Amino acid sequence: MVSVVSLVGLPGGGKSTVGRQLARRLGARFLDADIVLEERIGMPIRAYFEQHGEPAFRDLEQAVLDELTAHQGDLLILATGGGACLREVNRQHLHERTTVIYLRSSPEELFRRLRHDTQRPLLQVADPLAKLRELHEARHALYEMAAHYAVDTGRPSVSTLVSLIIQQLESEGLLPPRPPSPASS
Ligand code: S3P
Repeated sequence: MVSVVSLVGLPGGGKSTVGRQLARRLGARFLDADIVLEERIGMPIRAYFEQHGEPAFRDLEQAVLDELTAHQGDLLILATGGGACLREVNRQHLHERTTVIYLRSSPEELFRRLRHDTQRPLLQVADPLAKLRELHEARHALYEMAAHYAVDTGRPSVSTLVSLIIQQLESEGLLPPRPPSPASS
């Protein structure tokens, strides 16, 4: 049985939204690593980036991921930040300690969702679509490396994505058996 299911992928791919719904459907706890981190530093990530720079942020991110992936006991659904797979040590912790789902999205789809975003420091640039293409190019293989399974986020609704993930986890015997939902009984 698995203790932690982690979601990885580019910014805007739905890690937090899907993670929250997945947790609700499974009666599990949900944590967003970026929010845990923001609570600890006492400021938004964007402000932290501006004041301390990206390497300092990555060190904190590594420490938070090390702690959260070590969780044992009741099922925890963990949404990670888009850069969580950049460091090898993070990929290792995620892959070895948790079941990792890659929410795979195209840069164009992400751009449609994020074109008005003002919070993500890496996307506050003149050409966010070019930046998303660059991030996809640089990171796609890293997400694949860390992941046990991947789902394409392009067409399905959030609830369909969640159902696909649950089916996958159930077919691998990773979830405890659940009573049938009222709708299906
Ligand atoms: C980052 C993605 C962000 C956040 C930080 C860095 C990245 O998380 O961790 O701004 O490097 O892609 P989301 O993927 O939730 O936007």
